[in-house]
Amino acid sequence: MSSIPSNQLAADQAVVRQFLDRTVAPAQLSPSEVADYKDRIIRLMQEKNARLVAHYYTDSVLQDLAEETSGFVGDSLEMARFGHDCDAEILVVAGVRFMGETAKILSPNKTVLMPTLEATCSLDIACRIEDFAPFCDAHPDREVVVYANTSAAVKARSDWVVTSSIALEVVDHLMGQGKKILWAPDKHLGNYIQRTTGADMLLWDAACIVHEEFKSRGLQDMRSLYPEAVILAHPESPQAVLEIADVIGSTTQIIKASQNLSNDEFIVATDRGIFHKLQQLSPNKKFIVAPTAGDDATCRSCAHCPWMAMNSLDTMLRSLEQGDNEIQVERELAEAAMRPLTRMLNFASEQHLAVKGKA
Ligand code: 13P
Ligand code: SF4
Repeated sequence: MSSIPSNQLAADQAVVRQFLDRTVAPAQLSPSEVADYKDRIIRLMQEKNARLVAHYYTDSVLQDLAEETSGFVGDSLEMARFGHDCDAEILVVAGVRFMGETAKILSPNKTVLMPTLEATCSLDIACRIEDFAPFCDAHPDREVVVYANTSAAVKARSDWVVTSSIALEVVDHLMGQGKKILWAPDKHLGNYIQRTTGADMLLWDAACIVHEEFKSRGLQDMRSLYPEAVILAHPESPQAVLEIADVIGSTTQIIKASQNLSNDEFIVATDRGIFHKLQQLSPNKKFIVAPTAGDDATCRSCAHCPWMAMNSLDTMLRSLEQGDNEIQVERELAEAAMRPLTRMLNFASEQHLAVKGKA
């Protein structure tokens, strides 16, 4: 495995910090305010023929609201597919910016709103097209495979887009065709795929600030406290964490494992927003957040994505009332990004991979 020089990462970390400094935690609402906001949002959604599509990491109030209003809660790919297939005129995407952009690319005729356009992702920030395009140009012999957590411009420069639920299969398929891979942006996911498939992969050097914080030492300690617990980890986690995990998978795969396994206790290394769905589907099981404390801990996230947390009833209502925070993707860019996205969706259908439907 090879990767780009680490001074690239150092620069990216400074940029990520600037974005983190700008995140605003949502206001705490009383139960009567929550009820009032929900009523007003539901009325507006009916009037405007809008549907809410929310990620598992968003506030449980938004996840519930999506389901109560015939919207959808899921992972990044399922959100996009639901948005594409449903007949609403307006999609409100509660998640982070790349999810809104993907929804717009796949549904160019729909209006896509987001509660806030400031909700971004450390992987997206750390893979700017100005840096990425020359990197690709320098390696024309490699198939460019990018994670969905990227801008429309980076997707447009790629041959394939993948999500964590399908990345292994796509790389395996390309390896079978004798292809060498250029992978971006998540180094931990890339590393995991490389170790699992044995593919020749050149890796971009970026990480998710949430998953990077999980600590293997703390996880070992927790394992001795809960010897019967199954450890479930998202592949954006560092290698040392993945080596201890019993199940490694995307958000949907983590949820499915928690339902299918007969164990009663689970230690979960991913954003704690997912606990709402985990607990809802398995009310009698115990779910424990994997530790983010310990040596070198900064707890910038404490297992919760600060950008996902910016989605709230308050910001959603404002966006619906004012029709602002609309996602726009330039037509030429959207057409170019549509190609690798469609390739992924077609591949998933051909392989009958479970990238659609609720967990
Ligand atoms: P999923 O593709 O599983 O939804 O994950 C997206 C993400 O941002 C994980 O941190
Ligand atoms: Fe990006 Fe990590 Fe947040 Fe997911 S959890 S949106 S990868 S920063």
